[in-house]
Amino acid sequence: MKGVILAGGTGTRLYPLTKLMNKHLLPIGKHPMIHYAIDKLKEAEITDILLITGKQSAGLYTDYLGSGKDWGVSLNFKIQDEAGGIAQALSLAESYISREEKFVMILGDNLFEDNLKPYVERFKQQPNGAMVLLKKVPDPKRYGVPLIHGGKIVKIDEKPEKPLSNFCVTGIYMYDGGVFDVIRTVQPSQRGELEITDVNNAYAVNDLLSFSVLEGWWSDAGTFESLHEAQNVLSRGRERG
Ligand code: G1P
Repeated sequence: MKGVILAGGTGTRLYPLTKLMNKHLLPIGKHPMIHYAIDKLKEAEITDILLITGKQSAGLYTDYLGSGKDWGVSLNFKIQDEAGGIAQALSLAESYISREEKFVMILGDNLFEDNLKPYVERFKQQPNGAMVLLKKVPDPKRYGVPLIHGGKIVKIDEKPEKPLSNFCVTGIYMYDGGVFDVIRTVQPSQRGELEITDVNNAYAVNDLLSFSVLEGWWSDAGTFESLHEAQNVLSRGRERG
């Protein structure tokens, strides 16, 4: 299976740090943030990886990552010219993934402990469709929130005022090659972006969206608070060895 990492976006919640460089290059422990997503895909034995970045700092990614050789992976790069949402960024991967192929997509600001291998294996058993990974969180309003009924995701609400569960949809997604057709059916949201939640809901409506729940620590390092938390947790992890 191939992997796609999204590392674009404007990082407005981390301004003015992100005035200097793209969010996914900010330091977390010993590494820039982007290191961890690559490490996690490698841990799951996914070594063929497409990295989608914005124009900002694009050269710094190749400076730091090169071909991916130091990680034991093979990296390809694509540029998202303008921020148009996660689903729009994902659509840039269409030429990289064949129609029969399944793949994993990670948002580069998602940091977590779990090894993805067992989830990937579970998704391989699924004939088609998509899988999302969930995490119980104290502040679901900040995220995509699933409504779960009878062991299934009925729908996902994006950043709802009144969350229908205590789970968030993490930025770790698995799709079949049909996802690019699904993206073409999605309309821009009120904020003018193609939302990944709308893509996932299209799978849910057709009963093709499965889920698993992460067991270990997870954070999306998109705010100063969560960035500090990630820095603390991942530095401690390093001390533990
Ligand atoms: C995005 C998704 C959201 C998801 C989150 C996970 O939100 O839209 O559904 O829960 O990633 O990190 P964003 O961080 O782009 O606001």
